[in-house]
Amino acid sequence: MCGIVVYSGRGRDDAPALVLEGLKKLEYRGYDSWGITSVDRKGRVSTLKRVGKIGGADPRSVRKLLGSGSVAVGHTRWATHGGISERNAHPQFDCAGRIAVVHNGIIENYQELKAPLVARGHRFTSETDTELITHYIEEYMGKGLSLQEAARLVARRLKGRSAFVAVDTRSCRIAAARLGAPLIVGVGDKGRLFISSDVSGFLDHTKRVMYIDDNEMAALSGSGDRSRMPSFFEIGSGKRVRKRIITVGWKGGTESKSGYEHFLIKEIMEQKRTIAQAINQDDWRIRQAAGRIRNAFGVFIVGAGTAGRVCAAGEYLFSDIARKHVNSAVASEFASYRHYLTRKTLMIAVSQSGETVDLLDAIDVAKSKGARVLSLVNVFGSTLMRASDDYLMLNAGAEKAVASTKATTAQLSLLTLLAYATAGRLKDGKRLLLDTAAQVNDMLNPRYEDRIKRLARKLKGQKDIFVIGRGVNYPMAEEAAIKLQETSYIHAHGFAGGELKHGPLALVRKGSACIVMAANDDSKREIMGNAMEVRARGGYVIGVAPENSDVFDYWLKVPDAGSASPIVNIIPVQILAYHLALLRGINPDYPRNLAKSVTVK
Ligand code: F6R
Repeated sequence: MCGIVVYSGRGRDDAPALVLEGLKKLEYRGYDSWGITSVDRKGRVSTLKRVGKIGGADPRSVRKLLGSGSVAVGHTRWATHGGISERNAHPQFDCAGRIAVVHNGIIENYQELKAPLVARGHRFTSETDTELITHYIEEYMGKGLSLQEAARLVARRLKGRSAFVAVDTRSCRIAAARLGAPLIVGVGDKGRLFISSDVSGFLDHTKRVMYIDDNEMAALSGSGDRSRMPSFFEIGSGKRVRKRIITVGWKGGTESKSGYEHFLIKEIMEQKRTIAQAINQDDWRIRQAAGRIRNAFGVFIVGAGTAGRVCAAGEYLFSDIARKHVNSAVASEFASYRHYLTRKTLMIAVSQSGETVDLLDAIDVAKSKGARVLSLVNVFGSTLMRASDDYLMLNAGAEKAVASTKATTAQLSLLTLLAYATAGRLKDGKRLLLDTAAQVNDMLNPRYEDRIKRLARKLKGQKDIFVIGRGVNYPMAEEAAIKLQETSYIHAHGFAGGELKHGPLALVRKGSACIVMAANDDSKREIMGNAMEVRARGGYVIGVAPENSDVFDYWLKVPDAGSASPIVNIIPVQILAYHLALLRGINPDYPRNLAKSVTVK
């Protein structure tokens, strides 16, 4: 959550423009408000803050207000401490207006740290927790410490996962501290340096990066200094840390909408190829992972939100395909399982971003018990990837829309492949998934989308949508509900078909919409029975199934994909969610109150 981009160059650079461009790439991380502070060649400091999305910021007016210069620091915010206002947008400043700070994450001991500052007369102008960092740096520098040392001492006092960058607008020195939330240094040519919370913040300018690890910080000298290489330190001891420059091969995928109106529909359509891309893995790596799954004493698949629903589907996949018992868990609840973790446990961590704090905390729990971590992750170089013992890339390319689509089906594909490999049937798994990829390619045509659009018109006024499934499609029913909630703001509820009669059926009235995921598997007869129960009470039944039925009021045909049914069943609901958003006047890429990377608890 929240995006940081900082640029420090030399000579005639246009720092505010570079920061603006980088922040636009990070908008998916937070879009409540944004701000940029720049220092021009004459040392003049200007700040621009706005409420709303940075995507709409016009580079010409930003240039007019901020001029050009060689140093700029910017932030796009997802509000945590303090409401959405220009006052609370970052950068935040100390009393003298000299130290500019941008910050991601939460300072858990905020109250405790703020009180003494107030008592010593510091004036707080925002409601953010970030601002206290500026005042502490001000105090430490007032005692003669360098920016780097002052930032280090503050960082040592902060509790909770966060990251901040502080810029001394007088000397143009910069200090960046990582305390559990990502920060990466980009090393450009001719002494041009970037710092960002995500490589996409500077990937168009350099692919050479230096990762700041947890509890470390980076210090950049002023733009006039000859040596432009950053130095790295441990936050705890202040000891110097040596770093290598790594060239990132990851392109981050195409980041334009490629002619589509929104990222969401573009990413849905990209599933024509991302399923095949997800399983395009080295066989030996898949076999090695499968061997670890087979031999582990206790396997947990863990993820948050949509990824959590994928993990729940994974539990069924491993049972059905490999007869292997694995436990799925929601990342934020994983700590409750700590008593079952040992050195023989394998944790499979599933994540698009690789930055979800609930999942990173879950990994810490697993590691503290000596468990091994295998991650399935989309973002190369992410915290999750770097913290795992082994990783497999999802290969879905950058996913920008907040609602996950192509990463979801990539996760499902890779878990299905692993289940087949665990059963010693890797080739069968590959064949099935390649067939599924081809069927999805055929399915995603304009006529299919039109049919779903017609359904969206029928459903756009609904107050509630129910989704039911059984077996592996039970978690997919829950995932369908997440997609509908976040894009259309219609109350949607997904549950197991068998649970209908244990309560939710009381909510079904004439015209209530119920999506039924009816795969051609062992559960078909029973889920159709549940569909009938809804129909008998006047409900409007939408079947997502390979075959039509009299029970369905509306049929969304999907291929008969066998064990890959979760992949094909979720896609029509993704398209439905997109069109419901449009019909209800909602921007499908940026649901209110949500952000793409959830880096707070
Ligand atoms: C919903 C959605 C979220 C994410 C969740 C985990 O469409 O995208 O529920 O799945 O925040 O994110 P990652 O996969 O980045 O760990």
